[in-house]
Amino acid sequence: MKITSAEFVMSNSDVAKCPAAPLPEYAFIGRSNVGKSSLINMLVDRKSLAKTSGRPGKTQLINHFKINKNWFLVDLPGYGYARVSKKDKKIFQKYITEYFEKREQLVCSFVLVDIRHEPQPIDLEFMEWLGTNGIPFAIIFTKADKLKPGAIAKYVDNYLKQLLDTIWEEAPPHFVTSSANRTGKEALLAYIDGINRDFF
Ligand code: GTP
Ligand code: MG
Repeated sequence: MKITSAEFVMSNSDVAKCPAAPLPEYAFIGRSNVGKSSLINMLVDRKSLAKTSGRPGKTQLINHFKINKNWFLVDLPGYGYARVSKKDKKIFQKYITEYFEKREQLVCSFVLVDIRHEPQPIDLEFMEWLGTNGIPFAIIFTKADKLKPGAIAKYVDNYLKQLLDTIWEEAPPHFVTSSANRTGKEALLAYIDGINRDFF
């Protein structure tokens, strides 16, 4: 799929105020600093459409980007960010939870995990919650440029094996990406294109 346009639509913290257009949408979720905003920029070939930072906690709201005038990418705040207060964390959890529960046109959630890390309880819990709530998701391994090419398959296999050993009977769809060297772009866009075709 070729990206012909990518525009920022709005930021907010209330799912009821998200864009009303019934277009398919894809959300990016995962721990702070895992590379959600960077991946959105990489996919649409824009340097700073989504705001990124080396410090965790950059993305704070539900951010809608309209792509090719007929679908949305959604950049979300990261979870597991230790420096926000307990109160803020609660508010965050509430509106993000509501977003996932109520957003009807959410056709796929991408759960991003750093390819170098062992499965983290917070990610596993979140995937389990998505599964329980019947929200389709795929795993995106990020920052693949940080590993030697020969090591990538080993890390991915180890991660998926642990998923299969614990909660899942079948591995979810998964993608290996690097925003730094643009790995995984075509595969992800093809996946999105396939879902869009079923939607329309
Ligand atoms: P929050 O909005 O804080 O939740 O973070 P985020 O998940 O949106 O991460 P962001 O895209 O802001 O990136 C965090 C840091 O990781 C930045 O310093 C990026 O440059 C870096 N980064 C993101 N993707 C990659 C990647 O593929 N490779 C490398 N080497 N660094 C990356
Ligand atoms: Mg971000």
